[in-house]
Amino acid sequence: MPIIYVKDRNGQEHKVEADYNLTLMEIIRDKGFEIEATCGGCCACATCHLYIDNNWLDKLEKINDDEESMLDQAFDLKKNSRLGCQIEFTEEIDGIKVEIAPD
Ligand code: FES
Repeated sequence: MPIIYVKDRNGQEHKVEADYNLTLMEIIRDKGFEIEATCGGCCACATCHLYIDNNWLDKLEKINDDEESMLDQAFDLKKNSRLGCQIEFTEEIDGIKVEIAPD
């Protein structure tokens, strides 16, 4: 089973089994982690803010203009910030490590 590693807001890392072709936000939300994802994945809220482990950043699709402008409104922005709803979970990123950004 494909997996992702999710560090929650308490700093605890979890190994999570996941299906391909869902977004990282959907996987994390559906497993019951604390992630708001208020807009449901329309790239309109920035409450699915994640930090991507640096070893995995280059394997992701490049950030597009919509994601970039929404990320600009997120708090605690870092160089490895991405929106979880804009990243599809595929075989190429099986094993990816992410951290849920602060509320
Ligand atoms: Fe709203 Fe990702 S869920 S921007």
